[in-house]
Amino acid sequence: MAMQWQWLQPGISCTVRTYAKINLTLDVLGRRSDGYHALATVMQTVDLYDTLSFTLRDDEQVRLVCTQPELSTETNLALRAAMVLREYTGQRYGALIELQKRIPSAAGLGGGSSDAAAALLALTRLWRLSLTSEELLRLAASLGSDVPFFLYGGLALCEGRGELVTPLPSCWPAEWRWLVLLKPAISVSTASVFGALTARDYSDGSHTWAVCAALREGRLPDLAHLYNGLERGVVERYAAVAAARAALLEAGAAFVRLSGSGPTLFTALAHLEEAQRLWLRLQEQGYEVYLTQAIYPSVESLTLLSLPAR
Ligand code: C5P
Repeated sequence: MAMQWQWLQPGISCTVRTYAKINLTLDVLGRRSDGYHALATVMQTVDLYDTLSFTLRDDEQVRLVCTQPELSTETNLALRAAMVLREYTGQRYGALIELQKRIPSAAGLGGGSSDAAAALLALTRLWRLSLTSEELLRLAASLGSDVPFFLYGGLALCEGRGELVTPLPSCWPAEWRWLVLLKPAISVSTASVFGALTARDYSDGSHTWAVCAALREGRLPDLAHLYNGLERGVVERYAAVAAARAALLEAGAAFVRLSGSGPTLFTALAHLEEAQRLWLRLQEQGYEVYLTQAIYPSVESLTLLSLPAR
């Protein structure tokens, strides 16, 4: 331990971008005996990101500072990831975690999960820990169902309760190059959305399998298969989501889907000019809108360790 501290230099830091995701499909297959729901979902990272810096401290303290003070709490997933990593390895290293938050919280975009995955990867590096991919994936799954996906990023099929990740080839369709995300001005609890599901929201996974097959073959998936089993309940329960959905369609979106448990909605367009026109029209109506693209973070900085495909 003493030896390790000699080459762990306090003040060393690393900075990563942690990307949001959208769900292209989300089939809820049914309720499991552990209370979670069995899912088949296709997720894609998009270039809306938080910035996280990790600086080694020479004491045992792990501190989090966030640009949104209400998120600088012990329940913050980036901080929890650091604590879980320390507990698992038995190491007592310290770190300062600085989080510049841009991804809306409780929005169905996986921001907190993405931060947690980045914290696991960055601190494993910074603290010179040696963990296998399997150990990292297990720790990630213990933090949240979406966290393992963000260890990979890009495009992936996620099964189980969402934690079983199969990376798909980087084959986002050019016809959907530009993604317009609209975050209605409400927050939605994932647990309450899943809790309100009824059997009629369940599906057999065929939407997800059809989309995976189309993407693998380089075909544009049929819009009928961009299905999210959580969408009906969210649109019915939250008037703000229904209104935002109508506004997107009215502004010319060819289709609108909910991302994860929402409330964020998205649509896709081929050309920047039309995407920007749509973005502007919605922004003029006072909506929080983002113009993004699919992104494969392994070419940037998020994937600090190379994880094998399952
Ligand atoms: O895994 P995570 O902590 O993100 O999940 C938050 C909540 O969402 C869970 O406590 C559960 O109520 C619900 N959930 C579910 N089925 C899943 C994922 C999440 O019912 N596959």
